[in-house]
Amino acid sequence: MTRLTMFEGVQPEASSWQLPPAMSDTAAPVDGAYNFIFWFSVVFTVAVTAAMVFFIAKYKRRPGVKSEPTGHFNRLEIFWTVTPCIFIVFLFHIGFSAYIHNATAAEGATEIRVHGKKWNWEFEYPGGSRTSELHLEVNRPYKMIISSQDVLHSFFIPEFRLKRDAVPGQYSFIAFKPTVVGEAHVFCAEYCGTSHSGMLAKVLVETPEQYKEFTSTLGKKPKLCGTPPVECTEEKWGEGLFAEKGCPTCHGVSGSGTLGGGKSPGPKLAGIFGHDQPLADGSSANVDENYIRESILRPNAKIVAGYTTVQMPTFAGSFTDDQLEAVISYVKSLK
Ligand code: CUA
Repeated sequence: MTRLTMFEGVQPEASSWQLPPAMSDTAAPVDGAYNFIFWFSVVFTVAVTAAMVFFIAKYKRRPGVKSEPTGHFNRLEIFWTVTPCIFIVFLFHIGFSAYIHNATAAEGATEIRVHGKKWNWEFEYPGGSRTSELHLEVNRPYKMIISSQDVLHSFFIPEFRLKRDAVPGQYSFIAFKPTVVGEAHVFCAEYCGTSHSGMLAKVLVETPEQYKEFTSTLGKKPKLCGTPPVECTEEKWGEGLFAEKGCPTCHGVSGSGTLGGGKSPGPKLAGIFGHDQPLADGSSANVDENYIRESILRPNAKIVAGYTTVQMPTFAGSFTDDQLEAVISYVKSLK
């Protein structure tokens, strides 16, 4: 509760009278688009209604006046088809650039895993500790890796103008930078059962000092690796699982793609993360968390260029979600 009072007196400004305070770098383009569409609609609703009322009055049926059928007026029809199209392309442009902005993580963004489940949110920080309140440092770029343990949820922070579905069996991403110190709220924006409306969490955007104080209370949540089990990082845990499941037999030690001086039977894993992987069908796929997850669970889904058959068995059911994330962390760390 002390955390609450910390923000007393902080009242972030709303950039629109209909929207909550804007607290992230995403807010400006979203509010810009929102306000533009709103006023655009107001102006045209008023103009069209006024013209309609005027014409109804002016051309109403009068005794003795015969109606004249209206002919085709090509130039007018082209005008009112092309003009709205130009506006729609413009609206698409501002919406799409805001979307791309949210989908692209800044270099060196801090990664936080968001776990949605019936009916609460859990936030996992680098180092493995989890909290039920989301703590963020002001002006630091973040990448959220969102997943669900059960059904479809949606991670929604109105003050940040962000929303992304949490889909079971895959990861979704959202990138942003909180810009104002204060309190925001996470809602679930996808109906997910009885307590959907109670699936809430608090977001605390803190000053660097406050954030440092928070991380000092967090401590590390080390995993246990090896026999006898010793404390280790998630990557180390992933490395252990990688070896335990026999991955190096086909992908080479540390996923090097070489074995006994020659090419290994399985594709190279080191250094692929974040890059485009050419595929056997001539297309290519960006290697992100979803790509690695899919390749582990459904090895046949995407076949790397230079390979025709996949001998790799599926590992669906061999890993828990936490173990899968550890292996993904390990593959991400391979250089
Ligand atoms: Cu979770 Cu609605």
